[in-house]
Amino acid sequence: MKKKLLGAVLSVAMVATLLAGCGGSAPAADAAPAAPAATEEAAPAAEEEAAPAAEEEAAPADDAAAPAGNMKVGVAMPTKDLQRWNQDGSNMEAELKAAGYEVDLQYASNDVQTQVSQIENMINNGCGVLVIASIEGDSLGTVLATAKEKNIPVIAYDRLIMNTDAVSYYATFDNYMVGTKQGEYIRDQLKLDTEAGPFNLEITAGDPGDNNARYFYQGAIDVLQPYIDEGKLVVKSGQLDFDQVATASWSSENAQSRAENIVSSNYSDGSNIDAWLCSNDSTAQGVVAALDANYNGEWPIITGQDCDVVSVQNMIAGKQSMSIFKDTRTLASQVVKMVGQILSGETVDVNDTKTYDNGTGVIPSYLCEPVFADINNYKELLIDSGYYTEDDLK
Ligand code: GAL
Repeated sequence: MKKKLLGAVLSVAMVATLLAGCGGSAPAADAAPAAPAATEEAAPAAEEEAAPAAEEEAAPADDAAAPAGNMKVGVAMPTKDLQRWNQDGSNMEAELKAAGYEVDLQYASNDVQTQVSQIENMINNGCGVLVIASIEGDSLGTVLATAKEKNIPVIAYDRLIMNTDAVSYYATFDNYMVGTKQGEYIRDQLKLDTEAGPFNLEITAGDPGDNNARYFYQGAIDVLQPYIDEGKLVVKSGQLDFDQVATASWSSENAQSRAENIVSSNYSDGSNIDAWLCSNDSTAQGVVAALDANYNGEWPIITGQDCDVVSVQNMIAGKQSMSIFKDTRTLASQVVKMVGQILSGETVDVNDTKTYDNGTGVIPSYLCEPVFADINNYKELLIDSGYYTEDDLK
């Protein structure tokens, strides 16, 4: 209870970070997302409308633009099992159709071969642009080689598609900044710059096949590592490296099972867990379930991402402390705009041409800026904006 009161006081100070829309920045490019360098100067806060990319960063229209007039767009989403992908898919389908496009929207149940087959069908059925949120970033090289042969531009959606030169653009939220905000939230809630500690921390990261997962992890660790080094933050389980804390398929069940083992092996002595860094909401929900069943100490600060309904409900109930809000309407709108620019041969808006090297070179990207929601601002951020209704969260 004490920590929650502390959290409420401190998080009010953070409510000011309500920056929605697109902008953002990310660390300098690196072939693999290991230890990105310091973040570049943050882009100016976006206005209501996504600020147009700086002229010098606008990428030339993809010279492999689809044949003029080809108005069919393939949208490949990874799964319906996570709320956000359902929203991403339906938002894009609605906006693309409103703009006059024909849409082939497919979900692959997190099965790589299914996604490959769906993309093959999109290519064979004459799609002029492909928008793809990959299941495994490294699994689409062969099928996308066919897209490139047929001059079909590809937009990697939210997750960078790796090791193929068929990707024309990348549209996402600033993934490194997602992690930074999660790390800063723990830092500020525990008052690591003034309290003596030590505080116990555990970590649950995302799917190792998802290029985003290492950016989320690294952004948070770059904030927290100094406190770990000075012993103010202690990872009692000793599990700190990405490969030790990763969660296959972002699965709540996998996160819960690992958290149960950590609690029974390291916290059955009555010691408190002060914070649990979770990279997204599905893993946070797994950790919450494990703690509910096996932990008797003070409830920890728990981070998340996506503002899933279940996690916002847990936030209201005091079970999850915060979640990074990535307004899927914003990203979908940005991608629809890019589709239009590609198909009409216009210059495509991007605001980052340095960070995201997919193994064949840096992919021109448009990064939207993530914000965080917690008990103090979720109403303004999620309900006043029309993202949820009050009833959605009951
Ligand atoms: C990531 C995505 C996150 C998170 C996770 C699970 O790639 O950026 O928002 O939800 O996948 O789907």
